[in-house]
Amino acid sequence: MSVHKAQTIKKVTTHQLQEMKNRGEKIAMLTAYDYSMARIIDDAGIDVILVGDSASNVMAGHETTLPITLDQMIYHAASVIRAVKRALVVVDLPFGTYQGSSGEALRSAIRIMKEAGAHAVKLEGGAEIKDSVQRILSAGIPVMGHLGLTPQSIYKFGTYTVRAREEAEAAKLAEDAALLEKCGCFAIVLEKIPAELGRKVSKSLQIPTIGIGAGPDTDGQVLVMQDMLGITKEFKPRFLRRYADLSTIVNDAVTRYVNDVKSGDFPNESEKY
Ligand code: KIV
Repeated sequence: MSVHKAQTIKKVTTHQLQEMKNRGEKIAMLTAYDYSMARIIDDAGIDVILVGDSASNVMAGHETTLPITLDQMIYHAASVIRAVKRALVVVDLPFGTYQGSSGEALRSAIRIMKEAGAHAVKLEGGAEIKDSVQRILSAGIPVMGHLGLTPQSIYKFGTYTVRAREEAEAAKLAEDAALLEKCGCFAIVLEKIPAELGRKVSKSLQIPTIGIGAGPDTDGQVLVMQDMLGITKEFKPRFLRRYADLSTIVNDAVTRYVNDVKSGDFPNESEKY
């Protein structure tokens, strides 16, 4: 008699991310916004999936992350959660759902945890959102910080160029990172800052940092999936490494399908009932 052992999958937790930093193991994070892709990247061994508000750009075609709503983020997050067996799923609080008051921030975070089944939330900013971060943490909801280039503030900064090149801005970023750690955040995303600052901040913190354009010395890396798969071809920042050219692959496949349908080659004898 064969004995079938139920395969137990060890889920990634915030504690495990801390242990990974402690033993010097890098953390791999990618974005996902739908069930099918989340399933593939979870199977492939990704540690953290971010349901980023970059869904506003890559899924909905908006120019910025500002228009996406809490309901839309919950829809994307719930789809991802249904697919995931192993990865930790972190969900962005969208613009306008946590800056007004800490009470509103907590209500937004609770909706994401309850309605989507998320494991943690991410907020952009430092000292200016401290009350919101603390209020969410006090409800037992894990919080990931996000410093450096914070796309929800694009109209304040005016460009998507590298942040914190100046000493004063770098010092403020380091202070904000220390503050977020003190509040109890379990990790911080560092976006588009000089590699040396990424190294310094990562070394000074106990909690893990996850970089995107922040150099090789952060404790992990994150990319937007559509960018690393070559779906968003026109987006070419220096920090982006492309691992596939899906845009060309999909275009070729669809061109062949259109030709086959029009020529009558599809469906053939073996493809009909
Ligand atoms: O929304 C997003 O995809 C992000 C990553 C770029 C970190 O915040």
